[in-house]
Amino acid sequence: MAIREILTYPDPALRVVAEAVQDVHSEVVRQLVQDLADSMYDAPGVGLAAPQIGVSLRVAVTDTRWREEDGVRDLKVWINPVISRRAGEVVYEEGCLSVPGIYKDIKRAAEITLSWQDLEGTRHTADFEGFQAVALQHEFDHLDGRLFIDLLPPIKQKLLKKRLHKLKKQQMEG
Ligand code: NI
Repeated sequence: MAIREILTYPDPALRVVAEAVQDVHSEVVRQLVQDLADSMYDAPGVGLAAPQIGVSLRVAVTDTRWREEDGVRDLKVWINPVISRRAGEVVYEEGCLSVPGIYKDIKRAAEITLSWQDLEGTRHTADFEGFQAVALQHEFDHLDGRLFIDLLPPIKQKLLKKRLHKLKKQQMEG
């Protein structure tokens, strides 16, 4: 079990476009998935993508269920995910472990068609909707160096980023 440090805005590693996983069966990938899961549950969060722990690979984990009362974990592993269809529109209040303390309404597709690989390397395709579709779009944006705050209207985004830079500077000085 390894809980890794989660990088926060404006860390440049969060802006890198991650590379596709070539060898799904490698020990590196197995360890990465374990670390992502451990770090996500520890945080706690409903999702975590590899770039958030400084690993530039197209891997993310989610668990959109376990915080419900039954406490049952439902870990999902997404390797080399590709969203091939987006439909409709939905607004959810989003937050991100890499942008702590900030929660904003974000507009995304209400439905997606996704293909991804599992830890055996098998490729799957399925449709997702509602909160799960939103969580997946959020996580996979991380693989392209994108954060949810980038989806805010330009003026709101500019003000927020200015405030976050200032906060970070204060933290580093303090
Ligand atoms: Ni995030």
